[in-house]
Amino acid sequence: MIITIDGTVGSGKSTAAAGLARRLGARHLDTGAMYRALTLKALETGADLEDPAALEALACATTVELDSEPGRQRVRLDGRDVTEAIRQNRVSTHSHYLARTPGVRNVLVPVQRAFAERAGNVVAEGRDQGTVVFPDADAKFYLDAEPEERARRRQLELEARGQAASYRAVLAEIVERDRRDSTRETAPLRAAEDAIYVDTTSMSVPEMIDALEREVRRCAQEKA
Ligand code: DC
Repeated sequence: MIITIDGTVGSGKSTAAAGLARRLGARHLDTGAMYRALTLKALETGADLEDPAALEALACATTVELDSEPGRQRVRLDGRDVTEAIRQNRVSTHSHYLARTPGVRNVLVPVQRAFAERAGNVVAEGRDQGTVVFPDADAKFYLDAEPEERARRRQLELEARGQAASYRAVLAEIVERDRRDSTRETAPLRAAEDAIYVDTTSMSVPEMIDALEREVRRCAQEKA
């Protein structure tokens, strides 16, 4: 069973994917973590972020592994644990260079499909999971929420990591990141035609996971 969750920054994708995977006994595939890991390497090695060929070569020469024991997700970059390092704000603000590069996506998409193949049951989260990577997924979700609420969530997340930032700056940043993700040419952020749209603005985390789980069970019944 493959479930996809795409959506905007701060819409609740990661929380929903992790929670849903736990409930369904599935693996959580955090594809954003892969783009983040390559971004970290590009920043550390001083790669030219404006040079698509350099970014593609970097992606080809890199191993990104996701270890997704239920409730414990680890990310390894060339064997090194970068689970915490990829959450730095400088990685968030530079990841669009890698994400917009077709050669980089061409390297990562097969890795994502192989992960799903191995796992069997997977909840895949990102921007293009329902549209490009798993067009035949069993259930597809597109999550969104009011920008103000998403900024509030993101600010709390940054604070929890000791990276305090002003609300206005966070709001401007998420709006800009979504603009970049949805206007790029390759695999832009958008809802698949058959995705279930979920507005999480006024949902608690358990409410959101309940709503998704209900839909997954409904889709499974319809297909049975
Ligand atoms: O979801 P996130 O913030 O961890 O994603 C990190 C970056 O990767 C962000 O720039 C969007 C991009 N991304 C993407 O282009 N396609 C995906 N499937 C997942 C993430």
